Amino acid sequence: MTQHLVLGIETSCDETGIGLYHSTRGLLAHRVFSQIDLHAAYGGVVPELASRDHVRRIVPLIRETVQAAQCSLNDLSAIGYTSGPGLAGALLVGASVAESLAMALSIPAIPVHHLEGHLLSPLLASEPPPFPFVALLVSGGHTQLMSVTGVGEYALLGESVDDAAGEAFDKTAKLMGLPYPGGPVLARLAEQGVAGKFKLPRPMLHSGNLDFSFSGLKTAVLTACRQADFSAEQAPDLAAEFQEAVVDVLLTKSLAALKQTGFSRLVVAGGVGANTRLRERLHAQLGKRGGRVYFPELAFCSDNGAMIAFACAMRLQAGRALPCAEGSFAIRPRWPLADISPMGAKS
Ligand code: KG4
Ligand code: ZN
Repeated sequence: MTQHLVLGIETSCDETGIGLYHSTRGLLAHRVFSQIDLHAAYGGVVPELASRDHVRRIVPLIRETVQAAQCSLNDLSAIGYTSGPGLAGALLVGASVAESLAMALSIPAIPVHHLEGHLLSPLLASEPPPFPFVALLVSGGHTQLMSVTGVGEYALLGESVDDAAGEAFDKTAKLMGLPYPGGPVLARLAEQGVAGKFKLPRPMLHSGNLDFSFSGLKTAVLTACRQADFSAEQAPDLAAEFQEAVVDVLLTKSLAALKQTGFSRLVVAGGVGANTRLRERLHAQLGKRGGRVYFPELAFCSDNGAMIAFACAMRLQAGRALPCAEGSFAIRPRWPLADISPMGAKS
């Protein structure tokens, strides 16, 4: 079997991520530089600042990662880079560096789908889930349930019709006056509160399909905050109820997806996969049903280069690498995951 050493480059949003994955030795090293401090003053990601910071960080971070792995750029067999979805300017930084470095080293630069990186990231664990499984992708930009039968074999089962789960966390945190990045701050506040003291809706819980909707929940929180008798001491209880509502919906739909596919394994990926309450409740429910839930390690929940190197190596190994860009930089700011799977989109 051919061995691959793949450099992974992630620059789709506000994290510069670099990873080095070897097809037999596993993950050799990875580094992430988070731009949280840079964007905090603006209360959200400023795309132009994100691109500029990727330019500043990317080459030193590649050097650092290669050094940490005790290898040389000349050992690389391919460079995988996130070509979408994400912020166009930010993606261009990773694509430009990947294409230039690959040209200098006479090796291929291979586009990688950001969500495929997330989706396969739980397989980086020491006890990876075997195929097939249902994947619950919950990030800042996406909420999707996919049936996964192999590398590159993804069928969309359902998705959010409006806000993504992470986006709902972020927007709700902002309207509650919490600092950026809102999602994890809201989750921490929720731990100090009690769910059920406020009553929030569970949108589309009984919709009969596997789609989600989270934008109404944010509006319901706004309405609660605007009540004349709402006080700051109640904020943890409201946060807890919000979190419980999101987790209820994600849990119910995930169980329905397992029933529909007949699979017993659920794999959760993306930033919201770091949520402690979601982890607890999925573990408890799947345990009761004789199934099993898998999460990526916390370091691989949010954006990182390891998952991009890994997804690229998996595709190379399966002989299914996405075609190279051939002279132009292949960035796709909007790019449905089902587009790279022969199984296609939801019917
Ligand atoms: O996957 P990710 O790092 O970036 C995207 O590709 O979007 O996900 C980031 C999202 C953000 O919306 C963030 O608020 C959310 O994940 N997030 C959380 C938690 N940690 C990060 N949401 C809920 N609870 C958390 N503990
Ligand atoms: Zn992501």
